[in-house]
Amino acid sequence: MEMIIKETAETTSITAARWVARLVREKPNAVLGLATGSTPLKLYQELIRLHQEENLDFSEVTTFNLDEYIGLPRDHEQSYYTFMWKNLFSQINIDPKKVHIPDGMAPDIPAACAAYEEAITQAGGIDLQVLGIGSDGHVGFNEPTSSFASRTRIKTLTRQTLKDNARFFDGDESQVPQHCITMGIGTIMDARCTLMLAFGKAKAEAIAAMVEGPVAAVVPASILQHHPHAKVFIDDEAASGLQRADYYRWVYDGKPEWQIDA
Ligand code: PGA
Repeated sequence: MEMIIKETAETTSITAARWVARLVREKPNAVLGLATGSTPLKLYQELIRLHQEENLDFSEVTTFNLDEYIGLPRDHEQSYYTFMWKNLFSQINIDPKKVHIPDGMAPDIPAACAAYEEAITQAGGIDLQVLGIGSDGHVGFNEPTSSFASRTRIKTLTRQTLKDNARFFDGDESQVPQHCITMGIGTIMDARCTLMLAFGKAKAEAIAAMVEGPVAAVVPASILQHHPHAKVFIDDEAASGLQRADYYRWVYDGKPEWQIDA
């Protein structure tokens, strides 16, 4: 894993956006895996700015989102479909036909999950997967003890995740859908590179477990230790539980010019 630690969520997100932009410029038909939640908002804002002010072109880009709640219609204000169109897609020149978000209202969910996997394969696989981390260590909605070999499927959210996400549902945990469709850990690990973002003290413990703890299914994100090209962009607060934070900063600051891609 490559650790990139910046002072604030904003500076971290701008650095991460540079990496995404570099890929899209080098490979205009890149396949991006995208995430929702509070964490990637500033990354998306910066990508929108790059599109509007620096001509970053998304017209040939294909996207696959990580997850979606089961039982929320697409036009529900808290569906991840609504989130993506509101916070990114409506403000860039993406081709709607190239956007993929799991359908939480699909009549046959297992078939929809299998079709999602097939669509990723048909698109040539994911070049870069944006990820957040749950305070319980989940990645996508792969909750603790998820199989490292898992593919897109139904999952049941933990009580902790329901609690964490209640803020989007008027603070009412009982309004948060208990089930979701999520890419599996195997699906995420197949991405050619991964871009994890985490900000704030509330993520410090999960980040420390992911980066410096043992690889274990109880901390699903820890599997990224096995990924050949995983970058982790975090702010100082999210880095505050890391034992070797000074080393990671030293490595990043000392990167030779030719190696700097973010
Ligand atoms: P958050 O969620 O960005 O809203 O903190 C991250 C996640 O649950 O993966």
